[in-house]
Amino acid sequence: MADMSIEFSGITLKNPVIVASAEPSNSVENIKQCIDYGAGAVITKTIGDIPGMQMLTKNSKYAILNDQGKIIKGKVPRSFVFYSRSGYISEEAEDWISILKETQAYAEEHGSAIIANIASGTMEGWIELAKMCEDCGVPMLEVNYQCPHPAGMSEGAEGAWIAQDPNVTAEVTRRIVEAVNIPVMVKLTPETNRMTEIAKAAMDAGAASVAVNSRFVGFAVDIDKAEPYIGGPAGVGGPWVKYITQRWVNDIYGKLGCDISGSNGIFDWRDAIEFIMSGARVMQVGSVLMLKGIEWLPKVIDGMEKFLDDKGYPSVESIHGIASKKALMTPAEMFAMEPLYCEIDTEKCQFPKCSICIRMCFYDSLFSGDQDVITTPDTCIGCELCNNVCPFDAITMKPKSELDVLAATG
Ligand SMILES: Cc1cc2nc3c(=O)[nH]c(=O)nc-3n(C[C@H](O)[C@H](O)[C@H](O)COP(=O)(O)O)c2cc1C
Repeated sequence: MADMSIEFSGITLKNPVIVASAEPSNSVENIKQCIDYGAGAVITKTIGDIPGMQMLTKNSKYAILNDQGKIIKGKVPRSFVFYSRSGYISEEAEDWISILKETQAYAEEHGSAIIANIASGTMEGWIELAKMCEDCGVPMLEVNYQCPHPAGMSEGAEGAWIAQDPNVTAEVTRRIVEAVNIPVMVKLTPETNRMTEIAKAAMDAGAASVAVNSRFVGFAVDIDKAEPYIGGPAGVGGPWVKYITQRWVNDIYGKLGCDISGSNGIFDWRDAIEFIMSGARVMQVGSVLMLKGIEWLPKVIDGMEKFLDDKGYPSVESIHGIASKKALMTPAEMFAMEPLYCEIDTEKCQFPKCSICIRMCFYDSLFSGDQDVITTPDTCIGCELCNNVCPFDAITMKPKSELDVLAATG
């Protein structure tokens, strides 16, 4: 059986599946349930000191939408959109001292770990919260620099702002890292086009890892009522966003090579594997546990293990970053890819009943003939769109170099 354990931020986790900071980790009972269902670690819902953000959670609102923008009733499909607004834990930070101690002891008994997620509106607050959590015995902190809500709130909390500025990220991280002796993971926001630079600022300031990343802020409209769902802008995510997150995981892994926790868009074990192959060492699952229940967790863990076994990979470690290492990063590398052209198997092709490939060829390379689709390899740029849309598996992409060989051999 594949080894599911992984080193992350200097600690060993029994598996790379971490419960993200959200409602499934907002109480002793929920955290223990996550541990019972096999979580490699559990990140607490944000322990904060900003009253408005605590109030916000008491007024949480959720709209789970389908791919047509309608509220989903019943079974939630992979294509869900999670549109929601919630804040930090609604209790006072000090109320979490006993919760952290109790859940960390429980986690240790079960080979898991608690990661305390914190956020403050002041530098002193960040340090106080960090020390408080360290004193409770948790082995790691996650600092929530990404929360989309505080910026517009009356307390003037900086949460949405920190991870949009590399200098502020560096400064706050350095002060927290100096204050504690446990590893600090910095949770980044996707609301920036400078994420790699900001990740570097965090790592240079002493962070042990980065969490890439939290959710975007969106605006979803109920067209029947002609009004926004849940009253206005809110956090938005779902499996559709995975590819954007993985773009940053790949970029940060390729450029910095630091420890990354992938978060934002995981539905099942397939997504988890993609995140690891993109360069994340561990990944976090949040929304899907709220929609499928915490009992969904073992499906992700066991599915990953089965995939590794089926493919003959010895460990999670052995697939870490393997897709990212094959990524062509520069235009020169991309332009140097072997040129291809399409060849059509006339036995399988259903022309003239089907001519989708001709309609989808935007390079004047496919035409209707009397009996068959006519291909013109000279103008074919090898984009593979025809191959993608062919419902009959009638198209094969061939290297253009084969044409030269064919021409030479007559
Ligand atoms: C309802 C809800 C509450 C959340 N609460 C927090 C929070 O308290 N602190 C935090 O850092 N992230 C919070 N998040 C963000 C998640 O930790 C996670 O980064 C995000 O949902 C993306 O992962 P997912 O696609 O698995 O949901 C919350 C997300 C949701 C959906």
